[in-house]
Amino acid sequence: MNTNLVDVRGVTKDFDNGKITVNALRGLDLAIHEGDFLAIVGPSGSGKTTLLNLIGALDIPTSGDVHLFGHDLTAMSRKRRAGLRLTSLGFVFQAYNLIPVLTALENVKFVLELQGVDGGRHERAMSTLEDLSLGELANRRPNEMSGGQQQRVAVARAIVSRPRLVLADEPTANLDSENSEALLIMMRELRDEHGMTFVFSTHDPLVMAHATRVVTLLDGRVVSDEVKNAGEAAGGAN
Ligand SMILES: Nc1ncnc2c1ncn2[C@@H]1O[C@H](COP(=O)(O)OP(=O)(O)OP(=O)(O)O)[C@@H](O)[C@H]1O
Ligand SMILES: [Mg+2]
Repeated sequence: MNTNLVDVRGVTKDFDNGKITVNALRGLDLAIHEGDFLAIVGPSGSGKTTLLNLIGALDIPTSGDVHLFGHDLTAMSRKRRAGLRLTSLGFVFQAYNLIPVLTALENVKFVLELQGVDGGRHERAMSTLEDLSLGELANRRPNEMSGGQQQRVAVARAIVSRPRLVLADEPTANLDSENSEALLIMMRELRDEHGMTFVFSTHDPLVMAHATRVVTLLDGRVVSDEVKNAGEAAGGAN
Protein backbone atom coordinates (compact mmCIF):
# COMPACT_ATOMS: atom_id res chain seq x y z
CA MET A 1 0.00 0.00 0.00
CA ASN A 2 1.42 3.30 -1.08
CA THR A 3 0.74 5.98 1.50
CA ASN A 4 2.66 8.83 -0.10
CA LEU A 5 0.62 11.47 -1.85
CA VAL A 6 3.23 11.66 -4.58
CA ASP A 7 6.03 9.22 -5.32
CA VAL A 8 8.66 10.11 -7.89
CA ARG A 9 11.03 7.20 -8.48
CA GLY A 10 14.17 7.15 -10.63
CA VAL A 11 12.78 9.80 -12.93
CA THR A 12 14.68 11.17 -15.87
CA LYS A 13 13.37 13.72 -18.34
CA ASP A 14 15.15 14.55 -21.58
CA PHE A 15 14.15 17.32 -23.94
CA ASP A 16 15.24 16.68 -27.49
CA ASN A 17 14.91 19.49 -30.01
CA GLY A 18 16.48 17.52 -32.86
CA LYS A 19 19.93 19.03 -32.47
CA ILE A 20 20.67 18.79 -28.78
CA THR A 21 19.28 16.80 -25.90
CA VAL A 22 18.86 18.46 -22.53
CA ASN A 23 18.86 16.08 -19.57
CA ALA A 24 16.56 18.16 -17.38
CA LEU A 25 16.05 15.47 -14.70
CA ARG A 26 18.71 12.84 -14.11
CA GLY A 27 17.44 10.16 -11.76
CA LEU A 28 15.24 11.96 -9.31
CA ASP A 29 13.53 10.42 -6.26
CA LEU A 30 11.04 12.33 -4.15
CA ALA A 31 8.17 11.33 -1.87
CA ILE A 32 5.61 13.99 -0.96
CA HIS A 33 3.38 13.45 2.05
CA GLU A 34 -0.13 14.66 2.78
CA GLY A 35 0.10 18.05 4.51
CA ASP A 36 3.58 18.90 3.25
CA PHE A 37 4.15 22.62 2.69
CA LEU A 38 7.11 21.99 0.48
CA ALA A 39 9.47 24.42 -1.21
CA ILE A 40 11.50 23.11 -4.14
CA VAL A 41 14.54 25.32 -4.63
CA GLY A 42 17.64 25.29 -6.79
CA PRO A 43 19.33 27.40 -9.46
CA SER A 44 17.65 28.37 -12.70
CA GLY A 45 17.60 25.35 -15.00
CA SER A 46 17.92 22.80 -12.19
CA GLY A 47 14.61 21.18 -13.15
CA LYS A 48 12.00 22.65 -10.79
CA THR A 49 9.34 23.44 -13.39
CA THR A 50 9.99 20.17 -15.19
CA LEU A 51 9.42 18.29 -11.94
CA LEU A 52 6.19 20.16 -11.14
CA ASN A 53 4.87 19.40 -14.63
CA LEU A 54 5.55 15.70 -14.12
CA ILE A 55 3.93 15.61 -10.67
CA GLY A 56 0.96 17.50 -12.07
CA ALA A 57 0.42 14.95 -14.83
CA LEU A 58 1.05 17.55 -17.51
CA ASP A 59 3.97 15.61 -18.91
CA ILE A 60 5.44 12.13 -18.62
CA PRO A 61 9.00 11.14 -17.70
CA THR A 62 11.53 9.73 -20.15
CA SER A 63 12.17 6.93 -17.65
CA GLY A 64 11.21 6.12 -14.09
CA ASP A 65 7.72 6.57 -12.72
CA VAL A 66 5.47 9.01 -10.97
CA HIS A 67 2.64 7.94 -8.67
CA LEU A 68 0.01 10.49 -7.79
CA PHE A 69 -2.52 9.58 -5.07
CA GLY A 70 -1.38 5.98 -5.60
CA HIS A 71 -2.04 6.00 -9.36
CA ASP A 72 0.78 5.31 -11.79
CA LEU A 73 0.66 8.37 -14.05
CA THR A 74 2.85 6.81 -16.73
CA ALA A 75 0.36 3.95 -17.18
CA MET A 76 -2.65 6.21 -17.35
CA SER A 77 -4.45 7.42 -20.47
CA ARG A 78 -4.27 11.10 -21.35
CA LYS A 79 -7.97 11.39 -20.59
CA ARG A 80 -7.66 9.91 -17.10
CA ARG A 81 -4.70 12.16 -16.36
CA ALA A 82 -6.81 15.17 -17.39
CA GLY A 83 -9.64 13.96 -15.14
CA LEU A 84 -7.31 13.60 -12.19
CA ARG A 85 -5.94 17.10 -12.76
CA LEU A 86 -9.42 18.56 -12.86
CA THR A 87 -10.72 16.89 -9.71
CA SER A 88 -7.72 16.84 -7.39
CA LEU A 89 -5.06 19.33 -8.48
CA GLY A 90 -4.63 23.08 -8.47
CA PHE A 91 -1.92 24.72 -10.54
CA VAL A 92 -0.28 28.10 -10.45
CA PHE A 93 1.92 28.37 -13.51
CA GLN A 94 5.05 30.46 -13.83
CA ALA A 95 3.26 32.39 -16.62
CA TYR A 96 -0.17 32.72 -15.00
CA ASN A 97 -2.11 31.23 -17.97
CA LEU A 98 -5.26 33.17 -17.24
CA ILE A 99 -7.90 33.18 -19.96
CA PRO A 100 -7.55 36.65 -21.51
CA VAL A 101 -11.18 37.18 -22.53
CA LEU A 102 -12.52 36.34 -19.07
CA THR A 103 -12.57 38.64 -16.05
CA ALA A 104 -10.79 37.71 -12.82
CA LEU A 105 -14.06 36.43 -11.36
CA GLU A 106 -14.91 34.45 -14.51
CA ASN A 107 -11.42 32.91 -14.57
CA VAL A 108 -11.91 31.63 -11.03
CA LYS A 109 -15.54 30.55 -11.57
CA PHE A 110 -14.55 28.65 -14.69
CA VAL A 111 -12.81 25.96 -12.62
CA LEU A 112 -15.98 25.32 -10.64
CA GLU A 113 -17.99 25.18 -13.87
CA LEU A 114 -15.59 22.64 -15.38
CA GLN A 115 -15.92 20.54 -12.25
CA GLY A 116 -19.69 20.65 -12.49
CA VAL A 117 -20.10 22.39 -9.14
CA ASP A 118 -23.74 23.44 -9.04
CA GLY A 119 -24.67 26.01 -6.45
CA GLY A 120 -22.76 28.92 -5.00
CA ARG A 121 -20.15 29.25 -7.73
CA HIS A 122 -20.30 33.02 -7.76
CA GLU A 123 -20.07 33.29 -3.98
CA ARG A 124 -17.20 30.82 -3.70
CA ALA A 125 -15.20 32.48 -6.46
CA MET A 126 -15.87 35.93 -5.05
CA SER A 127 -14.90 35.00 -1.49
CA THR A 128 -11.67 33.40 -2.72
CA LEU A 129 -10.83 36.59 -4.61
CA GLU A 130 -11.61 38.60 -1.50
CA ASP A 131 -9.33 36.38 0.58
CA LEU A 132 -6.57 37.44 -1.78
CA SER A 133 -7.56 41.14 -1.59
CA LEU A 134 -8.80 41.06 -5.17
CA GLY A 135 -12.49 41.72 -4.57
CA GLU A 136 -12.36 45.13 -6.23
CA LEU A 137 -10.68 43.73 -9.32
CA ALA A 138 -13.22 40.96 -9.88
CA ASN A 139 -14.50 42.43 -13.14
CA ARG A 140 -11.13 43.24 -14.70
CA ARG A 141 -9.59 41.18 -17.47
CA PRO A 142 -5.97 39.97 -17.17
CA ASN A 143 -4.60 42.73 -19.43
CA GLU A 144 -6.14 45.30 -17.08
CA MET A 145 -4.20 43.98 -14.07
CA SER A 146 -0.58 44.12 -12.90
CA GLY A 147 1.61 41.03 -12.97
CA GLY A 148 1.23 40.55 -9.23
CA GLN A 149 -2.55 40.90 -9.43
CA GLN A 150 -2.73 38.34 -12.23
CA GLN A 151 -0.55 36.03 -10.18
CA ARG A 152 -2.97 36.25 -7.27
CA VAL A 153 -5.93 35.55 -9.59
CA ALA A 154 -4.02 32.47 -10.76
CA VAL A 155 -3.66 31.43 -7.11
CA ALA A 156 -7.38 32.02 -6.49
CA ARG A 157 -8.17 29.81 -9.46
CA ALA A 158 -5.87 27.06 -8.15
CA ILE A 159 -7.36 26.95 -4.66
CA VAL A 160 -11.04 27.79 -5.18
CA SER A 161 -12.10 24.14 -5.36
CA ARG A 162 -9.92 23.10 -2.37
CA PRO A 163 -7.97 20.49 -4.33
CA ARG A 164 -6.01 17.86 -2.46
CA LEU A 165 -2.72 19.05 -3.95
CA VAL A 166 -1.69 22.51 -5.11
CA LEU A 167 1.38 22.91 -7.31
CA ALA A 168 2.66 26.45 -7.64
CA ASP A 169 5.55 27.49 -9.85
CA GLU A 170 7.18 30.54 -8.24
CA PRO A 171 3.89 31.88 -6.86
CA THR A 172 5.47 34.94 -5.22
CA ALA A 173 7.78 35.92 -8.08
CA ASN A 174 5.83 39.08 -8.89
CA LEU A 175 4.59 39.98 -5.44
CA ASP A 176 5.94 42.46 -2.90
CA SER A 177 6.82 41.05 0.50
CA GLU A 178 3.51 42.11 2.07
CA ASN A 179 1.42 40.30 -0.56
CA SER A 180 3.76 37.31 -0.50
CA GLU A 181 3.42 36.98 3.26
CA ALA A 182 -0.39 37.27 3.08
CA LEU A 183 -0.50 34.62 0.36
CA LEU A 184 1.67 32.21 2.31
CA ILE A 185 -0.33 32.66 5.51
CA MET A 186 -3.55 32.01 3.60
CA MET A 187 -2.14 28.85 2.05
CA ARG A 188 -0.88 27.65 5.42
CA GLU A 189 -4.40 28.12 6.79
CA LEU A 190 -5.83 26.05 3.95
CA ARG A 191 -3.31 23.35 4.72
CA ASP A 192 -4.04 23.43 8.45
CA GLU A 193 -7.84 23.58 8.08
CA HIS A 194 -8.44 21.37 5.06
CA GLY A 195 -5.36 19.14 5.06
CA MET A 196 -4.36 20.39 1.62
CA THR A 197 -0.81 19.78 0.42
CA PHE A 198 1.26 22.52 -1.22
CA VAL A 199 4.34 22.21 -3.39
CA PHE A 200 6.10 25.38 -4.53
CA SER A 201 9.05 25.97 -6.75
CA THR A 202 10.73 29.13 -5.61
CA HIS A 203 13.75 31.40 -5.37
CA ASP A 204 12.07 33.39 -2.58
CA PRO A 205 13.56 33.18 0.94
CA LEU A 206 10.13 34.09 2.37
CA VAL A 207 8.58 30.95 0.86
CA MET A 208 11.45 28.87 2.22
CA ALA A 209 10.89 30.42 5.66
CA HIS A 210 7.23 29.39 5.63
CA ALA A 211 7.84 25.92 4.24
CA THR A 212 7.77 22.86 6.48
CA ARG A 213 10.21 21.15 4.17
CA VAL A 214 12.78 22.39 1.65
CA VAL A 215 14.05 20.19 -1.18
CA THR A 216 17.01 21.45 -3.19
CA LEU A 217 17.61 20.42 -6.81
CA LEU A 218 20.87 20.67 -8.67
CA ASP A 219 21.32 19.49 -12.26
CA GLY A 220 18.12 17.48 -12.19
CA ARG A 221 18.69 15.65 -8.93
CA VAL A 222 17.72 16.12 -5.30
CA VAL A 223 20.81 17.23 -3.38
CA SER A 224 19.19 18.01 -0.05
CA ASP A 225 15.88 17.42 1.70
CA GLU A 226 15.37 19.35 4.91
CA VAL A 227 12.32 18.78 7.09
CA LYS A 228 11.89 21.54 9.64
CA ASN A 229 11.12 20.89 13.26
CA ALA A 230 7.60 21.55 14.52
CA GLY A 231 7.05 25.28 14.86
CA GLU A 232 10.25 26.14 13.04
CA ALA A 233 8.49 27.25 9.88
CA ALA A 234 7.45 30.92 10.03
CA GLY A 235 3.95 31.29 11.41
CA GLY A 236 3.62 27.55 11.87
CA ALA A 237 1.54 26.48 14.83
CA ASN A 238 2.26 22.77 14.44
N1 LIG B 1 10.34 22.19 -23.41
C1 LIG B 1 11.66 22.21 -23.26
N2 LIG B 1 12.48 21.99 -24.31
C2 LIG B 1 13.83 21.99 -24.17
N3 LIG B 1 14.46 22.20 -23.00
C3 LIG B 1 13.71 22.43 -21.93
C4 LIG B 1 12.27 22.45 -21.99
N4 LIG B 1 11.79 22.69 -20.75
C5 LIG B 1 12.87 22.83 -19.96
N5 LIG B 1 14.02 22.66 -20.65
C6 LIG B 1 15.40 22.66 -20.12
O1 LIG B 1 15.42 21.79 -19.00
C7 LIG B 1 16.21 22.34 -17.95
C8 LIG B 1 15.36 22.47 -16.70
O2 LIG B 1 14.40 23.49 -16.91
P1 LIG B 1 13.33 23.93 -15.84
O3 LIG B 1 12.38 24.87 -16.52
O4 LIG B 1 12.74 22.73 -15.20
O5 LIG B 1 14.23 24.71 -14.77
P2 LIG B 1 13.82 25.55 -13.48
O6 LIG B 1 14.57 24.97 -12.33
O7 LIG B 1 12.35 25.62 -13.39
O8 LIG B 1 14.43 26.99 -13.80
P3 LIG B 1 13.88 28.47 -13.38
O9 LIG B 1 14.29 28.68 -11.96
O10 LIG B 1 14.62 29.36 -14.33
O11 LIG B 1 12.41 28.51 -13.61
C9 LIG B 1 16.78 23.65 -18.47
O12 LIG B 1 18.05 23.41 -19.00
C10 LIG B 1 15.79 24.02 -19.57
O13 LIG B 1 16.44 24.80 -20.56
MG1 LIG C 1 10.98 27.17 -13.54
